[in-house]
Amino acid sequence: PAGTIIAVDGPAAAGKGTLARRLAVAFGLPYLDTGLLYRAVGRRLLDAGADPRDAIHAEAAARALIAEDLARTDLRGPAADMAASAVAAIPAVRAALLDWQRDFGRAQGAVMDGRDIGTVVFPDAQAKLFVTASIEERTRRRLAELRARGIAADPAQVEAELRVRDAQDEARPVAPLRPAADALLLDTTDLDAEAAFTEALQLIESRL
Ligand code: C5P
Repeated sequence: PAGTIIAVDGPAAAGKGTLARRLAVAFGLPYLDTGLLYRAVGRRLLDAGADPRDAIHAEAAARALIAEDLARTDLRGPAADMAASAVAAIPAVRAALLDWQRDFGRAQGAVMDGRDIGTVVFPDAQAKLFVTASIEERTRRRLAELRARGIAADPAQVEAELRVRDAQDEARPVAPLRPAADALLLDTTDLDAEAAFTEALQLIESRL
């Protein structure tokens, strides 16, 4: 139904994006990949030669964020991944992006994927999914994504990067990565995209 918020949270490379995009089409709701907001802020700092942990600079970049920043083609890749996670730990950055995300969702409802949608951004979302997969499977998926973009990557390095980023996202004091108390858990380790979608639809429909 219009105005519905569906939150899709979980660690990196668990299949949230693919799933959330399909759910948005199925429910006729707008979709927002909230990781792009943090990526765009991190990218601005990298471009300026600044340290992504620089709170003053990062807050200014978050406040100046415009929709066009999300369409940049250089928001994915190891440097952008780590810069996003670094700026995401800064409370003032999260505060600046909170209104942005709430305005987006309140306009017509939305399917939003991220880390804290069900816990912080929309704690009263009608349905919350927490999507996980084993570290081995998430590494395989990230490697395949990179390969599809023509980037050769070392599996051990990709796995290490996922571990560091998840640990950082789970350990930060503000809006850490964790399932909301009322989240529906979906482990996609043994599910392909189609099966994950079918399972997610059933879980969500039990809440709507
Ligand atoms: O989802 P994605 O991997 O694109 O997110 C990049 C980074 O942005 C995450 O590692 C996390 O630090 C941050 N993030 C966040 N809260 C969100 C979405 C992303 O802290 N809602």
